[in-house]
Amino acid sequence: MKTATEKAPSKLILLGEHAVVYGQPAIAVPLREPSAEAVVTETSESEPVAVELKDFGLRWTRGEKAEAEEILPFAHIVRSCIEDGGRMPGRGWKLSIRSDIPIGCGLGSGAAVSTAALRAIHRFFGFAIAPRELSALVYETERMLHGTPSGIDNTVIATERPVLFRKGEDGEFIEPPAAPIFFVIGYTGKRHKTFAVVTEVAEARAADPETYDGIFADIGEITRKGAAAFRAGAFAELGRLMDENHRLLERLGVSSPELERMVQAAQAAGALGAKLSGAGRGGCMVALAPDAVVAGKLEEALRRAGSVMTVTTGILRRKAAACG
Ligand code: PMV
Repeated sequence: MKTATEKAPSKLILLGEHAVVYGQPAIAVPLREPSAEAVVTETSESEPVAVELKDFGLRWTRGEKAEAEEILPFAHIVRSCIEDGGRMPGRGWKLSIRSDIPIGCGLGSGAAVSTAALRAIHRFFGFAIAPRELSALVYETERMLHGTPSGIDNTVIATERPVLFRKGEDGEFIEPPAAPIFFVIGYTGKRHKTFAVVTEVAEARAADPETYDGIFADIGEITRKGAAAFRAGAFAELGRLMDENHRLLERLGVSSPELERMVQAAQAAGALGAKLSGAGRGGCMVALAPDAVVAGKLEEALRRAGSVMTVTTGILRRKAAACG
């Protein structure tokens, strides 16, 4: 039986979230793990296309109304591959998805599952898809579900490259440092709604534009310095900038008691730097460790501070086949 399996990475915003909504740059990197996986399998020629979400025990068949919210992006992807000039047949294949990336925690789970799905479908039918084209298709799916995302998730996840991202632009790829980088991710277990947090920040800014624009500009400066430190593998400097960025995110009002506890625990346990990552108010945080031994200690400290999913990970090094 013919099958095609494809993976997609999670992403981490290293510096610059929220300020990126106001035109400042942000750095995001693809992570080795957690990740999402999609498998396309041949079925009987008469069977309409189906989607299975392994993590939710959900199944949808084309022609049915997509009831569950979790199915919507895949129903959209399947339709776009078949209808309106899509090149794939409407029968004889099924798409199965599974993912280790917690939903609503700032690690790009939505863009990752869409990327894996589109890659697997294209590979199954023998169609090439360039990373930029893939990124645009993933953005369409994201936009349908989440309003107007900045585009950072699809750019990083579909291209599998660290990027210095600016809203409305393609983004400048940053070569990752040669030395291994140890990120320890902690998760509060609280899903956040990016749109709601971004809206609250917009309201607070409307009431006090001077203060907020000053904070965004300071975050922008930190991010620019951070891009140079990242490229050079200057991890002590990068960690210091992460700490500074976190303090500014706290001033924006997007931290939470859970995130503060974890960031402080990581700093006390020997992190080079630590910050919340993504929209905040829950979701996840990241600590930078100087080596694997300290990373282990940070994991322990984060678990004690309440992290419900703790993982030491690094940057996904891009496969040659993904170039383009
Ligand atoms: O938590 P996430 O991964 O949805 O990240 C949100 C990042 C923001 O800068 C807050 C919003 C955006 O669209 O860039």
